[in-house]
Amino acid sequence: MTIEVVILAAGQGTRMRSKLPKVLHPLAGKPLLGHVLDAAHAVSADAVHVVVGHGSEAVRAAFAEQGVQWVEQREQKGTGHAVAQAIPQVNDDAAVLVLYGDVPLVSADTLKELLANCDDGNLGLLTVELDDPSGYGRIVRGNDERVTAIVEHKDASPSELEVREVNTGIMAVKASHLHRWLPALSADNAQGEYYLTDIVGMAVAEGVHIHVVQPDSHWEVQGVNDRRQLNGLERYYQQQQAQKLMAAGATLADSARIDVRGELEIGQDLFIDVNCVFEGRNRLGSEVRIGPNCLLINSTIGDGVEIKANSVLEDAVVDNDCVIGPFARLRPGTVLAAEAKIGNFVETKKANIGRGSKVNHLTYIGDSEIGDAVNIGAGTITCNYDGVNKFKTEIGDGAFIGSNTSLVAPVRIGARATVGAGSTVTSDVGDGELAVARGKQRNIGNWKRPEKNKPQDA
Ligand code: UD1
Ligand code: CA
Repeated sequence: MTIEVVILAAGQGTRMRSKLPKVLHPLAGKPLLGHVLDAAHAVSADAVHVVVGHGSEAVRAAFAEQGVQWVEQREQKGTGHAVAQAIPQVNDDAAVLVLYGDVPLVSADTLKELLANCDDGNLGLLTVELDDPSGYGRIVRGNDERVTAIVEHKDASPSELEVREVNTGIMAVKASHLHRWLPALSADNAQGEYYLTDIVGMAVAEGVHIHVVQPDSHWEVQGVNDRRQLNGLERYYQQQQAQKLMAAGATLADSARIDVRGELEIGQDLFIDVNCVFEGRNRLGSEVRIGPNCLLINSTIGDGVEIKANSVLEDAVVDNDCVIGPFARLRPGTVLAAEAKIGNFVETKKANIGRGSKVNHLTYIGDSEIGDAVNIGAGTITCNYDGVNKFKTEIGDGAFIGSNTSLVAPVRIGARATVGAGSTVTSDVGDGELAVARGKQRNIGNWKRPEKNKPQDA
């Protein structure tokens, strides 16, 4: 069975009150439509058609080069009209899975179940029971409990409005059926729209069986119409991520105060304190401890590493048993060998820092190769930039850089070399040498401090 997915995403999303098209609003750092495309890939769709209208240029640009077939729906004349725009591109013997661009969390299992019966010619319909069904299309069932139709809220009779089982909008149906049914839709209803939901009545009239599937959780089929609903989904999604982390062996100080915006792979016996955010692809080894208020972006952290409060790591690779922070900032290209220490108010960028080396306080290390067991004193700066070009600093194994040193790159400090505190180092220092490059101290005797002028007439 070939599967083609049609994603409806042409609506305006007025209630978001936003310049950004609704389906580009992020959930867990990824646009809503990105989540729906993931769902399409999870069911191994052979083709994905996205129906766009409002803000279509921005939407297309955000997902360029993702193999999506774009379908323009210039006027939004209803869900049936929207699907009809895509159908000419769809293979006649494909099963068509209709998804909404603003319903981001539907699970692959639910969709697979929906598709399972489609091949036999059945129509798979995803429904859900809601305490408050208002606004939704109601599922109408006959005396034998079989589904006979969907009635939109605005077209429903008082008794139909009582029904709590509603249409999620997600369905699976053979393209060959759609080729027959969609041209037969009429807009003769309360909203003057071509309702996709009317195909259910047509199916029943032809004796096609309606196979109803329900999701495990109503969150799977929850759509986003406003920012309150977006936040509800975000919190649900984050709670799911937290549950997964705990199941995999992480202790969380508070499962409601961790945000994973991307993929987070972990070992066992981790501890993650409150308000940590993980963006992109992060990997944490076993027995990692992360203090409160840390941000990790695309970083790989080895076993036994401790990241203390308020540290920010981006595109960093940290080997086992390092200690980072509090208040450390590891920028892209930072690579720490095992047991390295990066302390407070230290910024690193494009820096390889060797095994057991220490950069403990108030320092900037950029474009640098630092050997093993190096000690970098407080306030050391690698002056890597002359305003035009960037240059490299190299420091050999066992070197000791005194506090408040400026290392003017390109420069090389030899192994076991020592640099005196307060030095401005502009030329290379050989292995084992001591470099002192600062003004010589002068002491002036009988120094008279300036005094305040006395007021003229006191
Ligand atoms: C639709 C269903 C309703 C269901 C509800 C679930 C129909 C007629 N009604 O109602 O049974 O309970 O979803 O949320 O199908 N869209 C387009 N082009 C259009 C119209 C809509 O792309 O011309 C897209 C929207 O961007 C949105 C989705 O289709 O992603 C649903 O449209 P919406 O207007 O929200 O449908 P509802 O009236 O809520
Ligand atoms: Ca809706």
